[in-house]
Amino acid sequence: MTEPLARVSTIVSSMTVSAIKEMAMRAAKMEDVASLTWGLPSFRTPEPIRRAVARQLDSDPDIGKYSLPDGLPEFREAAAKAHRAAAGVEVDADRDVMITAGNMQGLNALFHALIDPGDEIIVTDPGFASHFQQIRLCGGKPVHWRLDEARGWQLDPDALPGLINGRTKAIVLVSPSNPTGKIFSEQNLRRVGQIAQERRLHILLDDPYSHFYYENHERFFNLASVPELSDHVAYLFFSKAYAMTGWRIGYMVLPAGLKKEVLKVHDATIICRRAPIMSP
Ligand SMILES: Cc1ncc(COP(=O)(O)O)c(C=O)c1O
Repeated sequence: MTEPLARVSTIVSSMTVSAIKEMAMRAAKMEDVASLTWGLPSFRTPEPIRRAVARQLDSDPDIGKYSLPDGLPEFREAAAKAHRAAAGVEVDADRDVMITAGNMQGLNALFHALIDPGDEIIVTDPGFASHFQQIRLCGGKPVHWRLDEARGWQLDPDALPGLINGRTKAIVLVSPSNPTGKIFSEQNLRRVGQIAQERRLHILLDDPYSHFYYENHERFFNLASVPELSDHVAYLFFSKAYAMTGWRIGYMVLPAGLKKEVLKVHDATIICRRAPIMSP
């Protein structure tokens, strides 16, 4: 048995690598095993993206340089255009958009911007293990909003007010959800938005999966499309929709005041994320 390391962070030493990542690392050492670990698109990064990247690697002398802390203006413009088309709301690329190294990094920056030690973030349960870990890493407390299989894993907005107190900063939502695949109803999502507005909370909409549906797309409702919630919702999107999970790239659309805070976190942590592509 290896000796425990002396003087490492008590928060980190109390954590474990999630079962999904542990499985992936073990499976990588085995032959003939099927991966049932992380959620991956079944197609490869689309050809127009691969070609554009290849062209730019060849022709753009700045391709290997830092971009700005909120990302390249061209990519932010393209993200703003995509968000306008998808959510039908006005977005300003300078004011409201940040390029991220994927939703995970974007969320991490948001948690850093929101959490003081002991602050609480509400997360649906069952949920995505990394959300719980990231909140703990920032010194926060994940508050489990339990969903019930008997109700089809649907949100239960009536239970939400009882989870909110003076330390609550935000609610994390994933729809379609991981791990249940549940698409939360428009009615319930709007109710959560109303509660967040009344209690002055942020809603962090982690959206890796809205492009992955079969017959249910008309049931998907994007809470970022509600103009009255624009001061409350941060919306994160990209890598899975374009089969670019390993490229670590994404964008978030967030309230201007929150972007100012997250810029400080980017400055202190990743500096920037440069996308070698011009449009999502
Ligand atoms: C709920 C959820 N959020 C975020 C991610 C990761 O997203 P990204 O690749 O954009 O960092 C995953 C990946 O499995 C996920 O399931």
